[in-house]
Amino acid sequence: MSTFDCHWTIGAFLLCTFTGALLVDAQQCMPAMQDLTLMMSWKNIQWSEEQTENHTTNAYGEAYNESAIIPTRMQIWRTQVFLTFPRYRPGIPFSLGYVLLNSTNRFDTEIYPFPSWLEHSSKDSYASIVNAVDIYLDHNNLMLWVLDTGEINSLVKPSRIAPPRIFGIHITDRKVIKVIDLSDMVCAGKSRLQFVVADASGAGSDTNLFVSDAGTRSLIVYKGPMTSDSHGFRVQLPPLLCLKSTGCQQDVLHLMISGGGGGGDCSRPRARLYFSYLSGEYLFSALDKDLSEGKTLASVSQVGVKPSRLVFAGVDGDLGTNLFFRRDQDSNTIYSWNVSTAFQSDNLVIRDCPPSCRQATSVTAGYKDLIWALESNIWVRQGHY
Ligand SMILES: *[C@@H]1O[C@H](CO)[C@@H](O)[C@H](O)[C@H]1NC(C)=O
Ligand SMILES: *[C@@H]1O[C@H](CO)[C@@H](O)[C@H](O)[C@H]1NC(C)=O
Ligand SMILES: *[C@@H]1O[C@H](CO)[C@@H](O)[C@H](O)[C@H]1NC(C)=O
Ligand SMILES: *[C@@H]1O[C@H](CO)[C@@H](O)[C@H](O)[C@H]1NC(C)=O
Repeated sequence: MSTFDCHWTIGAFLLCTFTGALLVDAQQCMPAMQDLTLMMSWKNIQWSEEQTENHTTNAYGEAYNESAIIPTRMQIWRTQVFLTFPRYRPGIPFSLGYVLLNSTNRFDTEIYPFPSWLEHSSKDSYASIVNAVDIYLDHNNLMLWVLDTGEINSLVKPSRIAPPRIFGIHITDRKVIKVIDLSDMVCAGKSRLQFVVADASGAGSDTNLFVSDAGTRSLIVYKGPMTSDSHGFRVQLPPLLCLKSTGCQQDVLHLMISGGGGGGDCSRPRARLYFSYLSGEYLFSALDKDLSEGKTLASVSQVGVKPSRLVFAGVDGDLGTNLFFRRDQDSNTIYSWNVSTAFQSDNLVIRDCPPSCRQATSVTAGYKDLIWALESNIWVRQGHY
């Protein structure tokens, strides 16, 4: 084992490789571009700002535990990479942070809280970010939408600190400008909120947010978060999404969007949501337009049968026309699928193969027009992602 095995990385690869069947030999993969790869160990956290306070415990009085920290989701804006570190277990300093892709310290890159320590250490639990589990960067409104479950230590001793919320953080002002309380849209004890995406393909006032709720087989639709008369509702997804007879369990409800940043240009395809349970048989989709008008059953269509269990890891930016995924929990090869093509094995393209000890938990496009993958071995050790 090399010393890098205990790091997690953010690496880049090119968007031009070959098409192949899902079982193709991993040897064909091109390695990620080493000189662009960042490695992080958690030893290099920005512990204090302006020397005012050294944060030695987190907002819940827990001492930091490096082994508990699992980076799971990533979004990129210019040189900044926003990352989530969900509070599955005690000892997480902050659940939303960032690193800089142009950092000169490539082997132990500095990790900063985002937008700052204040939003992670405030005693006012309603105003502070409790447990960020997913993020979506909306380039049109320059907003980072953050899904916060409001619950900590979810894998060991769940404890509710605040209601589930979505935070809207302006990425250049670094200010929280929207806090959306989802209390009225969840079912206590049943809901499990996992993914958030935004459709900002219209003007700012037409922006819509979507959250997947695996526990209730539904989506939360939140209309107009950039306006003052914003409101949300639940959309129940059809039973076909998870049939017990096919072995489906309501485990992880992946949610992705293509064309979410279309800029209102009529020549572009409309924003479309893609969703599927990890253990489900099919990939499904629906137009944002239909879901946000409350048209549910009729608007959901089957895209195709998944060739095997797939772990979806992201799209290539908010104009996204490619979805990225891994084959299952044991595979580290990253594939992409161009949503304009049929969803079948010969249209699934191999993009990258991390070393066998690491698996991509999040893939996106950005900086230097490359595809970036967040790869981690920590969750492999912990058996969770
Ligand atoms: C701040 O706290 C961290 C974590 O306990 C520690 O590693 C670091 O040395 C401290 N820094 C200062 C300047 O006290
Ligand atoms: C730190 O986290 C790891 C992984 O969750 C766990 O096995 C270990 O017991 C924790 N250590 C402490 C001191 O809590
Ligand atoms: C990295 O990029 C940011 C702007 O995105 C800039 O402020 C910073 O100085 C750059 N750092 C280095 C080491 O080049
Ligand atoms: C996706 O497929 C369409 C139709 O084949 C093609 O026109 C387009 O260039 C492809 N896009 C990408 C990003 O590969």
